[in-house]
Amino acid sequence: MIVNKLIIKNYRNFKEAEAELNNSLNIFIGDNGHGKTNLMESIYIASIGRTFRLNSENELINFFENKSSIEIHLFKNNYNIKIEIILEKNKKKLVFINGVKLDKTSEMIGILNNVIFTPDDMKIIKGSPVERRKFVNIDISQIKPKYKYLLNKYKKVTSERNLILKNYHTKYKNNDIISIWNDYLVNLGTEISLYRNEYIMKLKKYAANIYSNISGNKENLDIIYSSNIGCITDKEEVKKNFYEKINNNFNNEVLRGTSLYGPHKDDILIKINERECKYFGSQGQQRSAILALKLAEIKIIKEEVGEYPILLLDDVLSELDNKRKSYLIEHIKGIQTIITGTDDHDLSILTKNFNKKVFYINEGKIGNISN
Ligand SMILES: Nc1ncnc2c1ncn2[C@@H]1O[C@H](COP(=O)(O)OP(=O)(O)OP(=O)(O)O)[C@@H](O)[C@H]1O
Ligand SMILES: [Mg+2]
Repeated sequence: MIVNKLIIKNYRNFKEAEAELNNSLNIFIGDNGHGKTNLMESIYIASIGRTFRLNSENELINFFENKSSIEIHLFKNNYNIKIEIILEKNKKKLVFINGVKLDKTSEMIGILNNVIFTPDDMKIIKGSPVERRKFVNIDISQIKPKYKYLLNKYKKVTSERNLILKNYHTKYKNNDIISIWNDYLVNLGTEISLYRNEYIMKLKKYAANIYSNISGNKENLDIIYSSNIGCITDKEEVKKNFYEKINNNFNNEVLRGTSLYGPHKDDILIKINERECKYFGSQGQQRSAILALKLAEIKIIKEEVGEYPILLLDDVLSELDNKRKSYLIEHIKGIQTIITGTDDHDLSILTKNFNKKVFYINEGKIGNISN
């Protein structure tokens, strides 16, 4: 999969900018605050449909404008695809694929596959379980179209069920309908758990191998799916355990007014030499673990989709030591990559054997340095 062209209008600090990308390596150099992450973000939005930052959609539109657009031309499975996103203040965003408007913008996920790696990704290790769930959710959504649909439904079901639990003793009719919501919860939750289990098994296989290489075969990485339903294996077994959990703990759920069991409580444990990396890993070990996860993500997408995703490396090389930098650069050969940085000297030495295009970003304008 190759992104050929990107056109952004009134997006963040860009008025109107266009870049024709190389199918191998693309380096964007610019000083702090000139728009490098904004550019990455625009590609990410064309892939996932929302930002990786904390902003609302209105905030993506240039401060002085009401409307913004992102247009991406890509080549995938022998097809030319044009993705267009129109953002308008206080309106729902519109997504067009080859000129046809999507009914649900979530349908765009999986068309442009990406793997993004930023210094902020350390939160996957250091942060709360929410961060790790988000990480696997985005990845699975990119390769299994049904997964995003299940997640959205599950979210609605848990909030509806929570409402019933909260009012269980005050509204008599809730006694009758709770079992319907239990069925929804268990059926959807089981499917989500099985998808997650399958994905995490793959992630574990690839990431363990990569980590072992990075550490010179001295350390081992393990990734464990932690579900409060119990062991996730066969569908019927998971359902049985799930029903058991909610039946045995129903009073507690009513008391707390919330659903206590299911994939919305999942965590993913990342361990180095049997110890949880979050608590015992050094900064370097944590960075290596993230690097291994990201490279594993690329392999899984290639395996599932048949083509490599676009790799977005936002300011990440400056965070890695020379050994890890070289490892990463060595392993992105053959994958279309965008790298941002502030220092072109360092990057050009690192990527001296690459077929590449170098751009500069200056106050929201893109310029081409060389081919
Ligand atoms: N909606 C917006 N309209 C106009 N400008 C915006 C908008 N949102 C953010 N900006 C500006 O974009 C700039 C930040 O851009 P960005 O984060 O891409 O910088 P960067 O080149 O990645 O910098 P760094 O090297 O520090 O990471 C800031 O100056 C910010 O004020
Ligand atoms: Mg940045």
